[in-house]
Amino acid sequence: MKKAIIPILYTFLFSVGNIFADNNLQLDNKNINDIISRLTLEQKARLLVGSQGCDTGISHIVPGAAGYTYSIDSLGIFSINLADGPVGVRITPESSNKQYTTYCTCFPSTTALAATWNKDIAFLEGSAIGDEANAYGVDIILTPGINIMRNPLCGRNFEYFSEDPYLSGIMGSAMIKGIQEKGIGTSLKHFVANNQQTGKLYNDARISQRALREIYLKGFEICIKNSDPWTVMGSYNKIGGKYTQANPELLKTILRDEWGYKGLVMTDWYKKRNTADQLNGGTDLMMPGEQSQIDEIIKGVKDGRISQAILDNSVKNLLELILKSVSYNGWKYNQAPDLQKNAELARHIAAEGMVLLKNDSSFLPVSQNTKIALFGATAYKSIAGGTGSSNVNKAHIIDISTGLENAGYQLNGRLKRLYTKYVEFQNDFLDKHPECTDWEKLSYNGTVIPEMNLSKAESIIEQEARNSDIALIVIGRGSGEESDRRLEGDFYLASAEKFMIEQVIDRFHSLGKKVAVVMNVCGVMEMNSWKDKPDAILLAWFPGQECGNAIADAISGKVNPSGKLPMTFPVDYSDIPSSRNFPIVGQTKSGKDFDYTNYEEDIWIGYRYFNTANVDIAYPFGYGLSYTQFSFSQPKIERKNDKWVATIKITNSGNTSGKEVVQLYISAPASPVTKPSAELKAFGKTRELKPGESQIIELQFTDYDLASFDENNSAWYTSKGKYMLFFGSSSRDFKATIPLSIKKDKCWKVNDVLKPVEKVNIMTLSTK
Ligand code: BGC
Repeated sequence: MKKAIIPILYTFLFSVGNIFADNNLQLDNKNINDIISRLTLEQKARLLVGSQGCDTGISHIVPGAAGYTYSIDSLGIFSINLADGPVGVRITPESSNKQYTTYCTCFPSTTALAATWNKDIAFLEGSAIGDEANAYGVDIILTPGINIMRNPLCGRNFEYFSEDPYLSGIMGSAMIKGIQEKGIGTSLKHFVANNQQTGKLYNDARISQRALREIYLKGFEICIKNSDPWTVMGSYNKIGGKYTQANPELLKTILRDEWGYKGLVMTDWYKKRNTADQLNGGTDLMMPGEQSQIDEIIKGVKDGRISQAILDNSVKNLLELILKSVSYNGWKYNQAPDLQKNAELARHIAAEGMVLLKNDSSFLPVSQNTKIALFGATAYKSIAGGTGSSNVNKAHIIDISTGLENAGYQLNGRLKRLYTKYVEFQNDFLDKHPECTDWEKLSYNGTVIPEMNLSKAESIIEQEARNSDIALIVIGRGSGEESDRRLEGDFYLASAEKFMIEQVIDRFHSLGKKVAVVMNVCGVMEMNSWKDKPDAILLAWFPGQECGNAIADAISGKVNPSGKLPMTFPVDYSDIPSSRNFPIVGQTKSGKDFDYTNYEEDIWIGYRYFNTANVDIAYPFGYGLSYTQFSFSQPKIERKNDKWVATIKITNSGNTSGKEVVQLYISAPASPVTKPSAELKAFGKTRELKPGESQIIELQFTDYDLASFDENNSAWYTSKGKYMLFFGSSSRDFKATIPLSIKKDKCWKVNDVLKPVEKVNIMTLSTK
């Protein structure tokens, strides 16, 4: 009898134990499948649809995050939060319990970071952003945006790196690595071809398979393979006639099958699509989400439109992401991040990314006791960054006037008073949100002040010219997510700016005094008509919160500018091939360039076009001066395992310490497709070299990096033959050249996917 009772008791105790264990099942690395098997359909649907963050309320542990995911406490499934963005963590600067402030550092805009051509700096910026996210409990930062600057009028170009996919991919990867090494996730966006704001929610980007692979997808491919971002964000637009977020050819065939991506794919914000199509198309998480999407998932699974396997796979991707998050890993507020240190880094990056476009007779740098007449409204209310989701709620912005004074320059008092009053008046006058708090005004509603009309102020200009040593003229441009840029008064100078530049330069030059123009502009402008007038031009981009201090560093020579243009400055807008197929703000409201855009210029974007077709430009891709000079010598190339390793010796041959960027452009032998005259395949930057000092820079690339896409065979090809390596200080200034011979043709077959819905009438170019 006893013998019979023991096994029964055992079985009973064991199953009680199991029930007990089941009830306490908490998500961990080993039980994901078990957890998934216990979730109800509704719970799964809720997990795949996020919620929108809220700026001020206690909606979530981090107010102001762009969104967060659903939690199931009983199973240890934490909610994670996702915050923008590209130049720092965008959250409300006050914690939900109101016990501490959560200001974040506003770094220079993405284009400015790209202009440093310094991977180490991109990594450091990522680390600092990661630290701030970690301190405040943000799990995923919605960055980097690596779309191609197809046309200078795209309103979001300031959030993007370059017209070149290699530069975008390498700088983007470095930033991702910096953030993710801090245990914070990133979201590589906007996948793919988010190249215009006009019609952005519906626009079908009709791109040849070659241009898509070589130009628009390439930077994403580099980031996915080099740095494995935890998440990828689909763009709003369509590709191949289908929304990117519901396009299996993009999200499954290319992203997952060809590139081996294992992370999570989420939507871009606010625009709901067909949820079943999105899940079937390869999107896992709908952001910020709404109830109807949960309903659609439940219905889709019930009526068989969404398979259990697809649903579970997306849930698995989300659970794996949660497991890596700081929220899951026991985040608690300990202390504020080191904002002082990060402000210094932001200042350093800003100064390093500034591009010295012109410096006749070594006018700059200017010694500290110089008396400056500082013209331009933006000098007194400067622009730290663009508007929209890449904004950061910073504690301050150092205006250019303040930065110059901090550095010891004397600003002419009368002019300063005049502009200060004008800026204050315009600020109040144009303030559309008078009820906002100070931080909201500083960060969100920072009106860009239109230029003051100096046409009746000739006597003031005259007096300034007599009483000052030099003039600095600042011109500024806002830019934002909401709209594309206009030609008049944006790409071109406004009439008040033209007048200011002409008159000030004329009066100062007549007295033998020099004038520099500082551009607080994060994009391309027409400069050909006025660039000959000033003695120096410094392109400062959107330099972030330390704007004025960083500009003063470059003007004073505390930092020797070493930035290089990440895009070409054409002579005129109409010279740009994509100008034939780009919307005009206010005029393009449907049809061509709104509902769809034909990318007829194909691969001929930026320097690929201008240099191959030999068209005049204002400033080339990769260009930027220094206060010193560099010489390039001893170019070499050798094969090391599966890589080509090129080296070049850079020597500072001038009188001031400085850094130089080495750009490796490679031309290919004749091939079945027309190739650009030379393409950027690697780049590197020296450390700060003292006069006479040298450094050998190593640059690597592979045979695959040299390939072109042959759409007739759906394959990447590297033809055998003679390649030329050009080591340049810009795309039009090659300093050393060596040949490279490839012995065998190489081919990498891929899938025949993402054809445009209609064949695009692509532009052809014969190489000269
Ligand atoms: C933008 C994204 C951003 C998201 C969340 C969208 O409007 O396109 O870049 O990450 O909002 O703020």
